[in-house]
Amino acid sequence: MANLRIHVAAIVWLAAASLTAQGDAEHAKLKNPVLSTPDSIAAGRAVFTKACAPCHGVNATGGSGNDISPPSPDLTDAEWQHGGSDGEIFFNVKDGIPPDLNMGPFGGRLEDDEIWKIVNYLRSIAKK
Ligand code: HEC
Repeated sequence: MANLRIHVAAIVWLAAASLTAQGDAEHAKLKNPVLSTPDSIAAGRAVFTKACAPCHGVNATGGSGNDISPPSPDLTDAEWQHGGSDGEIFFNVKDGIPPDLNMGPFGGRLEDDEIWKIVNYLRSIAKK
């Protein structure tokens, strides 16, 4: 009986894990609908400077954090802890990053196309 319970728990856990993985896969597949043009990059830069630079730094190279926010990662390097495709970055910004939401959701504050423009801006300043 105890064994059965462990199995059921394992199945529930696996189902939950695969659902999460599926969500990420869906996000990863999403294409950026906003073309990367000089205009969209400049617009993304302007939004980034206001909304993101206080934590991630004016050049998006990361911030040291303070007593309300932990250090914010460099967004110009090739390291993405939460997914580095356009769609994953988009949803991390729109929905925030659980569970602590130190990276809060911007969906209520920014339009979708503003977030896509930020993605274009980040691509344009990515370290090669
Ligand atoms: C209050 C500070 C703060 C603000 C403002 C902020 N961030 Fe973040 N951001 C963080 C922190 C802290 C993390 C790390 C979260 C974690 O790993 O749990 C993070 C993580 C991220 C990640 C994930 C990086 C990775 O390695 O996968 C992206 C992308 C990101 N932020 C983009 C943005 C953008 C774009 C904006 C502006 C719209 C923004 N952030 C505004 C603090 C902030």
